[in-house]
Amino acid sequence: MNSAHEFLRSRRSVRRFKPDPIPDSVIERILTTAAYAPSAHNCQPWRFVLVKDQAARTRLGLALTTKMRVDMQNEGASESEIEKRVANSLRRIDEAPVIIVLCRDATAVRVDTPEETIMNIQSTALAGLQILLAAHAEGLDGNWICWPLYAKQETQTALNLLGSWEPQAMIFIGYANDVAKDKTLKPMIDMVKVI
Ligand SMILES: Cc1cc2nc3c(=O)[nH]c(=O)nc-3n(C[C@H](O)[C@H](O)[C@H](O)COP(=O)(O)O)c2cc1C
Repeated sequence: MNSAHEFLRSRRSVRRFKPDPIPDSVIERILTTAAYAPSAHNCQPWRFVLVKDQAARTRLGLALTTKMRVDMQNEGASESEIEKRVANSLRRIDEAPVIIVLCRDATAVRVDTPEETIMNIQSTALAGLQILLAAHAEGLDGNWICWPLYAKQETQTALNLLGSWEPQAMIFIGYANDVAKDKTLKPMIDMVKVI
């Protein structure tokens, strides 16, 4: 197996980070590499919100966990479950050395059809993966976090985003302070059909 395959297979989600800062030049390189992702019609619909400002980070944490709390209450979670999840989420937001909110530009579609919208989202996700891989190439680790998807408007308001910048996820990046969870691949026979 060549080293490119080994590199791709060795990317893992890490959920605890050292506080060490990441140089701006490294983040710039990661985002530029991410922007090389393929996209439908080469529309490049991804938008990256690099949350550097501490006040913005605090607003983001509050917005996401307020919505999380409401959603969990509606799902019937207990108060102790809610408090635990909210506290853990706030800690993770606080600890992440770099937070990138991954958005799609809803206006970056050729025509307004459901299929084009899906391709806009698919393309944005590819840039998200490219962020994780580019971070890995820098000796960093990352974690894709879905919470903004459940709080799109709240995230837009907290970060003062254009209405067309629709949050899809956020990505934490930093130097690992933990090992990734164990992962077993499903058998390839269940994932592949050869005809
Ligand atoms: C669409 C998507 C949403 C995810 N959301 C979260 C999340 O909210 N919190 C989290 O800790 N990890 C999240 N992850 C990371 C997955 O849990 C992780 O990729 C998976 O367990 C496989 O582990 P690996 O990344 O180490 O290979 C998400 C990953 C994807 C692709």
